[in-house]
Amino acid sequence: MKIFIDTANLDMISEINSWGILDGVTTNPSLIAKEGTDTKTRVNEIARIVDVPISAEVMAVDAEGMVKEGRELASIHPNVNVKLPMGIEALKATKVLSSEGIDVNVTLIFSAQQALLAAKAGARYVSPFVGRLDDIGMYGSEVIRQITEVFYNYGFDTEVIAASIRGPIHVLEAASAGCDIATIPYNVLQQMVSHPKTDEGIRNFIKDYEKSKK
Ligand code: E4P
Repeated sequence: MKIFIDTANLDMISEINSWGILDGVTTNPSLIAKEGTDTKTRVNEIARIVDVPISAEVMAVDAEGMVKEGRELASIHPNVNVKLPMGIEALKATKVLSSEGIDVNVTLIFSAQQALLAAKAGARYVSPFVGRLDDIGMYGSEVIRQITEVFYNYGFDTEVIAASIRGPIHVLEAASAGCDIATIPYNVLQQMVSHPKTDEGIRNFIKDYEKSKK
């Protein structure tokens, strides 16, 4: 499974890249706003520090505007893919942009039916939001499983990005479902590294080593 980081923070992106596990970066307008910058500037900066796909979201809500903004974002760097919020306008824009060779990530996906339509329109990625489904009492990981199954059944090339990940268990469930990608916040990546028994084991190895030197 590919691992993307879900952030617009340059230090976090650099740090995770240094771990040797980074396959991509996803941003969204909220993550960009948190950094006090704008999408074009930040995507440009990200493209200078890592050589992986970077999702940049449009603010337009009509197909024509999404296409225009999408072309501008894609022209920043060949690694940039255009994030469009799911809807009829996004489907129309996906068709146009994908036919021009621009990769589209259809975001704010909450059902397999939405994912199916996005894939048919030519999306390179779909981003179902696991945590936000859990927030409303649904089982987000089940939607990941359904989409993965549907895409497998019909041989779609569209990759599934498990998004809105809130903890390591979401990553495990996405991986178990055969999901292509998980886009993971920095704190969850840190949680995935740790295990109390690993820490205990390291402490004991050091203790035994120190004892043997006496
Ligand atoms: C995905 O690409 C989105 O940026 C992100 O995963 C949304 O997550 P949230 O529900 O934690 O805001």
